[in-house]
Amino acid sequence: MRDIKELDLVLFGGTGDLVMRKLLPALYHLQKDGLLPGGARIVAVARETLDTPAYLETATRNCEQYLGQDFDAAEWARFCERVDYLAIDALEPASYASLAQRLGEASARERVYYLSTSPSLFSATCRNLAGAGLIHARSRVVLEKPLGHDLASSRQINDEVGRYFGEDQIYRIDHYLGKEPVQNLLALRFGNALFEPLWRREWVRDVQITVAEQLGVESRGDFYDKAGAMRDMVQNHLLQLLCIVAMEPPASIAADAVRDEKLKILRALRPITGPAVSTRTVRGQYRAGASGGQPVPGYLQEAGIPPDSHTETFVAIKAELDTWRWAGVPFYLRTGKRMQEKVAEIVINFRAVPHSIFGAPADTAHTNRMVIQMQPDETVQLHLFAKQPGDVIQLRPVHLNLDFAETFRTRRLEAYERLLMDVMRGNLTLFVRRDEQEAAWSWVEPIMDAWQDGGEAPKPYTAGTWGPAAASALLGRDGFNWHEEL
Ligand code: BG6
Repeated sequence: MRDIKELDLVLFGGTGDLVMRKLLPALYHLQKDGLLPGGARIVAVARETLDTPAYLETATRNCEQYLGQDFDAAEWARFCERVDYLAIDALEPASYASLAQRLGEASARERVYYLSTSPSLFSATCRNLAGAGLIHARSRVVLEKPLGHDLASSRQINDEVGRYFGEDQIYRIDHYLGKEPVQNLLALRFGNALFEPLWRREWVRDVQITVAEQLGVESRGDFYDKAGAMRDMVQNHLLQLLCIVAMEPPASIAADAVRDEKLKILRALRPITGPAVSTRTVRGQYRAGASGGQPVPGYLQEAGIPPDSHTETFVAIKAELDTWRWAGVPFYLRTGKRMQEKVAEIVINFRAVPHSIFGAPADTAHTNRMVIQMQPDETVQLHLFAKQPGDVIQLRPVHLNLDFAETFRTRRLEAYERLLMDVMRGNLTLFVRRDEQEAAWSWVEPIMDAWQDGGEAPKPYTAGTWGPAAASALLGRDGFNWHEEL
């Protein structure tokens, strides 16, 4: 990892939502914590004709809102001294001259180009950066999702970006990998000898990965309707979580050691094709309902959504891995918008004892279980059985609870703060390599094709619930329940 002092960070899509809501607040926090290199300069770039003061006025308004209590006017004013705005049409080669002028000679300064724009602009942006002589050995490019619409389009983007940047200069962001609890899962698995012997088919009965949101599509209807939950969440976030849970211990935390192991998992996913698509996958779409006690519209009534849209806002999948460690262990994946709660968690259900000397536990649905919750709380719970106090031995489920906020009272880095630090330091471990990304597309694509060819509408579910009944049946057929149903 490099120790960076001089750095230029160029944010394409500088007026967009991600820059305003996530990247500028993350950079501000890094400065406040003394983590942003002293000589770092930030250049926000977008098409709108604005000057730097006008840009900073909007940025200030937005960041004040998103940072809430963390906004400190004096610190923010210091932060703004680093920020410049340039109006550039990404498609127009001539407009890069002003960026070249602003960045000056290729010197010892590191350069990070963060492409927070539509992927349709990635190729032209890289070509024009190269044309203006702005890419050198110490340049890096950060690519925001969605990286393509399917395997072919993601390959095309990778080929085009790859003409100008080497793979070790390309940082494909999956912000779930930047979440503290996801890294804690690595620490839990590979920093403790305790779990490794249990982390396999002999002891694990099933794994459940849930990322449920309470929000609907908000103002992103137009984008979302072309994507759907499979492209928006499963292809990237959920499969990356599955990799971290299931991968073999890497030889080190070095980028390729970790990414090689994740790739093996993605390639070991049993393809879901033909009739298996209807028995192993469920897709749903929310109807009007309630969220947080307030009535909310259905997906088809949201702005920008065609009234006959078949786009899924919910997906549940029974995935299987063809490896010695995991053969026969179902990995149930589930994600949806407008669900009952906002919760992101990984549940490892362990098998029952081979012979119970106490008779069956009072509640046979409970097992030993590890619940790694990422949202809303960062906790790890171990569900065990203990004796119910009394004159007979009767078992009762109890929890060991590790609450990271309680245990470590320091402020934890937000996902984007952590990932921006890694980009600046040149650490690729938490970024997705091209072959991983393409392996993920190869697995989800036949499922999406079968949905489309089948022509069936997604199953309706009421906003504010846990999704269509078919999602419960997916586990019910195997004799299991989703974690919250217990
Ligand atoms: C994004 C998706 O990648 O992740 C959004 O595009 C989704 O649709 C978001 O809302 C969820 O992220 P988080 O960190 O809020 O769970």
